[in-house]
Amino acid sequence: MASDQTRITWLGHAVTLYQTAKGTSILVDPFIEQNPKYPKNFALPAKIDYILLTHGHGDHIADAVPIAKKHGAKVVAIYELADFVKQQGAPEIVGFNHGGTVHLDEVAVTMVDARHSSGATDKAGTHYVGTAAGFVIAAPGSPVVYHAGDTNVFSDMQLIGQLYQPEIAVLPIGGHYTMSPKEAALATRLVGAKTVLPIHFGTWPLLAGTPAELASLVDSTVRVVTWNPADWFPS
Ligand code: NI
Ligand code: MN
Repeated sequence: MASDQTRITWLGHAVTLYQTAKGTSILVDPFIEQNPKYPKNFALPAKIDYILLTHGHGDHIADAVPIAKKHGAKVVAIYELADFVKQQGAPEIVGFNHGGTVHLDEVAVTMVDARHSSGATDKAGTHYVGTAAGFVIAAPGSPVVYHAGDTNVFSDMQLIGQLYQPEIAVLPIGGHYTMSPKEAALATRLVGAKTVLPIHFGTWPLLAGTPAELASLVDSTVRVVTWNPADWFPS
């Protein structure tokens, strides 16, 4: 692996940790305490610089506030969701919206579309927290990553390919709440990714899509990585 390449660690379900060569840590969609596939012995970095949230569902934001407090992380999300986590106690937030780019130290993160619902539930009920989103993550010297978040495939994924040319796509493949391998194979083609890191599968029996199934459906030039929680790419 090139020494300047960002390390992407999968922590079960949709929890993904990005660590750049320069030392910036970005944790996406922290769902830890109630996540049956979270690798229990995994030690998160003492300092997490940013938490990125794709949307407001509990399996993506449940541990955002405690992690933000404990690890000193700024929470970055669509405007309404950032505001929600601030009300829940996140000390520092950055709210933005589709098409916007924020610079998280040396990492440029652009918010892109996702086709999924979003709503955050607490004791008072379910709140409007903006729409679901994906992110394009670009760190200097490292391949561009499209982190799709929970989504179905949609034809405007072509625009993401056209605009940002991601080499790596982090895609949900479990089905039921998101794409299954059938849709994810087309998503891979639409964004033009050469490597797929599958997430949001196997957490519960309902999320039945597998990397092997996706691998059988993508073009032969595409690599689908088979990994387990706590594994990282490139390994
Ligand atoms: Ni969701
Ligand atoms: Mn989800």
